[in-house]
Amino acid sequence: MNKLWGGRFETPPHALMEALGASVGFDARLAPWDIRASIAHARMLGDCGVISAAESGDIIGGLEAILREVDAGNAAWSPALEDVHGNIEAMLVARVGDTGKKLHTARSRNDQIATDMRLWTRDQVDALGELLEGLQTAIVDFAEAHESAALPGYTHLQPAQPVLLAHHLLAYFEMFKRDRERFAELRKRVNVMPLGSAALAGTPHPINRDQVARELGFEALSANSMDAVSDRDYLIEFCAACAMVMMHLSRWSEELILWNSPAFGFIEIGDAFSTGSSIMPQKKNPDAAELTRGKAGRVFADLAALLSLMKGLPLTYNRDLQEDKEPVFHASDTTQLCLAVFAEMLPGIRVNAARMEEALSQGFMAATDLADYLAAKGMAFREAHHIVGEIVRHCIARRTTLENLSIDTLKKFCADIDEDVFDALATATILSRRNQPGGTAPESVRQALLAARDMLRAKRP
Ligand code: ARG
Repeated sequence: MNKLWGGRFETPPHALMEALGASVGFDARLAPWDIRASIAHARMLGDCGVISAAESGDIIGGLEAILREVDAGNAAWSPALEDVHGNIEAMLVARVGDTGKKLHTARSRNDQIATDMRLWTRDQVDALGELLEGLQTAIVDFAEAHESAALPGYTHLQPAQPVLLAHHLLAYFEMFKRDRERFAELRKRVNVMPLGSAALAGTPHPINRDQVARELGFEALSANSMDAVSDRDYLIEFCAACAMVMMHLSRWSEELILWNSPAFGFIEIGDAFSTGSSIMPQKKNPDAAELTRGKAGRVFADLAALLSLMKGLPLTYNRDLQEDKEPVFHASDTTQLCLAVFAEMLPGIRVNAARMEEALSQGFMAATDLADYLAAKGMAFREAHHIVGEIVRHCIARRTTLENLSIDTLKKFCADIDEDVFDALATATILSRRNQPGGTAPESVRQALLAARDMLRAKRP
């Protein structure tokens, strides 16, 4: 007789089968959610008369004791019992005797694991929402603390036009706002209860699914038992949302790494989030950003793993589905860790506004505004663009900048240029003229910061 699978089996599983099949090494972390769901199930079984009130009470008492043991870190997990469900059931029977064996009435591990994972994912979605909000707050704090700093904005990693540092940072605020929206949106599809689907076809027992859903905070019941036990769309969506967050953090990492390098020198990342070199004593490396950039790739792989896992599966439950857990756990843990790291790292970043200003004086970042200046005087923009290109070429040959040319030199390129050009080319003018909503003018950025604060106060993405 096989202890786990009962009468049908004559011999125990091969050690290799146990090694292949045991998931408790990674799914034991689901225990608190598994037990909560079992308590709701047991209560409902008692209320519906499927088991007696006394049996229901014994089972709930046993499960509560097991939960305390799990919380205290005292639970002993056995791979021979396969997964978190097998282990907890065995713990229950050890505590309350044969009554414990009634818990699995009207339930299968198929709807059980689907329920556990949805409960777990719902909590991670909420945790990620909070972490994203925390990072957004850190961004707004940082942007406000450096509200007047300006630096080159880049396209193609070539200096393009001056922008406010706050404006640049608020670009990330927007990305994380969309991420929060994504999690809030997908939460609705996570929060659907599969329990009651049993193995695949539903159960003949007179259960009350609504009662269990209410106790567990589910907003809806799954509408099709076959879909319910085999659907993992919500995990794919969840991983996709994590991958998007990681992509955003990775882009930001790339910029922080560049800005922190001596070649840019725009910022200095604090010691607490940097590391040294074992050979080069002068080095202080931006490892937190580099690791985040590196981990992003692994989270993308988690998403790819889930999609590949699902693509060939016929209805309904297949054991392949056990393989969904490690990628999902990894994606969630990594994303949460990296978000926490960024929120902590940000306030410790020192801004070198002087270096940013120095960079603004190189790279002809006023060129567009000089062309706009000529266009405003009536010249066709395409022609103005051409003339300014010639002026830039002249400056490069003489190793000088637009601002340093004399009015006489400028007039040689175009007689329309007057003394007021120098004001038009000043960084402050260039910035303040971009004062449409969404632009980098100080007044527009102030509005954006106020809107960001409002959004954070309202506690919604
Ligand atoms: N550990 C399993 C999983 O994660 C639980 C469901 C097992 N169901 C089954 N029919 N073997 O998928």
